[in-house]
Amino acid sequence: MIKPLRKAVLPVAGLGTRFLPATKAMPKEMLPVVDKPLIQYAVDEARAAGIEQFCLVTGRGKTALIDHFDIAFELEATLAERGKRDALVLLREEAMPPGSITTVRQQVPLGLGHAIWCARAFIGDDAFAILLPDDLVLSQTPCMQQLADVYHETGGNVLAVAEVPHEQTNRYGILDIGHADGNRVEVNGLVEKPAPKDAPSNLSVIGRYILLPEVVTFLSQMERGAGNEVQLTDAMAKMIGHTPFHGLKFEGKRFDCGDKIGFLEAQIAFALARPDLAPAVRDFLKLYANS
Ligand code: UTP
Repeated sequence: MIKPLRKAVLPVAGLGTRFLPATKAMPKEMLPVVDKPLIQYAVDEARAAGIEQFCLVTGRGKTALIDHFDIAFELEATLAERGKRDALVLLREEAMPPGSITTVRQQVPLGLGHAIWCARAFIGDDAFAILLPDDLVLSQTPCMQQLADVYHETGGNVLAVAEVPHEQTNRYGILDIGHADGNRVEVNGLVEKPAPKDAPSNLSVIGRYILLPEVVTFLSQMERGAGNEVQLTDAMAKMIGHTPFHGLKFEGKRFDCGDKIGFLEAQIAFALARPDLAPAVRDFLKLYANS
């Protein structure tokens, strides 16, 4: 029987060194794209896929993320007093049901795999989603919904995958693929950050996963991989053969907002997708293109 998908783990304990000094006193996941922080996009996307329980894996200096999901009592009172109805509605629409967010602490950032392992009590015996908030996807159907549709049909583990330039395979978790059926591929193997000459394909895992709870057993081995970190990719690779693994070439475009160029591109793409902003953005882009 395929268990329902109700839980998501959001690892947010990374140091965000590529965005210093912006991330010195503020978490990377609070950086806004247009007018919404990255963390909010991730939570909204998960909620749209029916996910109700969230676990943020946090670290030092990440309290702004937790405050973001709290009720801003004084702010709401001031907005009401000043008749700022639209702003108030916006805040209330995004309010989370009480008890839906829990946090665990990853005291030392030992890698993404270690961050997920820190959420093991939350995961329990359930299949769960992982969303890396610095990966942003612009699509017709929210990316996690696309993965959840595959999960509900097939069960097993489901990974969002995207093609990357062959010379950049050393930046990503890369798939060894088996049978392909339309936009779905069978995953035969996974390698973290292979050199282009060793890469089994140019299909990369992006920051959206649905995993079975067995992954925790493999993470518990605490084996260090690329960058001397406990890699999620390595634990997933060990599960292949024991549990089914599907890759989904999702519809939409992914932006790596942990990287400056990816972040800037996301600002433009998300602004152009907004009818209230697109005309002005198009005008200024023309201006810069000609300068
Ligand atoms: P990144 O590889 O982007 O690392 O992590 P980072 O530390 O956030 O950023 P840079 O490379 O120093 O600029 C991918 C995701 O995994 C989380 C991060 O918060 C991010 O969501 N992560 C990474 C953890 O939660 N813990 C870790 O030990 C490592």
